[in-house]
Amino acid sequence: MKIMVVGGAGFIGSHLADGLVKAGHAVSVVDNLFLGKRENLPDTVEFYKVDASLYHRMYAAIIAVKPDVIFNLAVLPLPHSLVDPYRNVEANIRIVNNLCCLLQQGKYYGRLIHFSSSEVYGSAQYEPMCEKHPIEPSTPYAASKAAGDFICSSYIKTFGCDITIIRPFNNYGERQNGGSYAGVIPLTIQRLREGKVPIIYGSGKQTRDYIYVGDTVRAAQMVLGRDDLGGQIFNIASGHDVSIGWIIQEIQELMGTDEKVLYQPERAGDVRRHIANTLRAKDILHFEHKIGMKEGLKKTIDWYLAQK
Ligand SMILES: NC(=O)c1ccc[n+]([C@@H]2O[C@H](COP(=O)([O-])OP(=O)(O)OC[C@H]3O[C@@H](n4cnc5c(N)ncnc54)[C@H](O)[C@@H]3O)[C@@H](O)[C@H]2O)c1
Repeated sequence: MKIMVVGGAGFIGSHLADGLVKAGHAVSVVDNLFLGKRENLPDTVEFYKVDASLYHRMYAAIIAVKPDVIFNLAVLPLPHSLVDPYRNVEANIRIVNNLCCLLQQGKYYGRLIHFSSSEVYGSAQYEPMCEKHPIEPSTPYAASKAAGDFICSSYIKTFGCDITIIRPFNNYGERQNGGSYAGVIPLTIQRLREGKVPIIYGSGKQTRDYIYVGDTVRAAQMVLGRDDLGGQIFNIASGHDVSIGWIIQEIQELMGTDEKVLYQPERAGDVRRHIANTLRAKDILHFEHKIGMKEGLKKTIDWYLAQK
């Protein structure tokens, strides 16, 4: 199949592009390189440096490729929404709206697989959180992700568009952005590597359901392989939560350090607890994560340590 990955030069998108190439698909990537990197992608991928929030640029890229399926992973990240909420919300919503609108016209491409985020749920009101958990986003980023999901749902209900929503919980693994807006895992590895102390925002007792990026990519490919999932939403997660404090300790152990942690004030909008109910993914998609946190962290650390 001809598959386009929008936001494909980023962390999860580049692993997805790798997986799709390996599975024999013709893969194109659209990315404006806000955080993504061209070198994250294999040479066989057709690359378009395009801002997906601009309708006519996105339209032109789709016309040039004529993909069967588009995966949408393009996003301005959560920490960006704490410093530039206006641009974050506007761009994230525009990207989804453009892709839905081009799908609805029925002549440019046939199917959208959209990446949502567990952030749309806000802090857990019950645990584990299933796909019917109330949508109560805390940050502007989370609100833009929720808006994207509602836009997708509206195009499904109103126009019968073929859209499936993948809702990942926290991902980690090789190639996760370690620069500006870095998440806790790459940030801690980098700091320890540079001989600095690890930082925890808040008490460190806040928990997250982490899944290794290779497992998420496998789930996305399972969705691609099915033609009966239009209108469905799937939590993609491990179904176990771990505290941020525990993660820092594990990374320290794997890297052979025991630096004292520097505690900083809790970040605005930080959710307290996240743990997924993964039953829908198990029952309908037959997906379960395979890589445990210790194994995944080891792979991730090895990759970062091998970088210059
Ligand atoms: N990483 C996680 O833990 C996680 C968890 C839940 C959901 N998600 C979702 O998965 C998807 C991918 O996340 P990621 O962690 O790989 O993020 P990422 O920042 O690594 O990748 C996003 C990509 O989108 C690109 N991009 C941003 N704005 C763009 C625009 N206007 N036009 C074209 N490209 C643009 C960036 O350059 C980047 O390459 C996102 O939808 C995110 O909300 C991620």
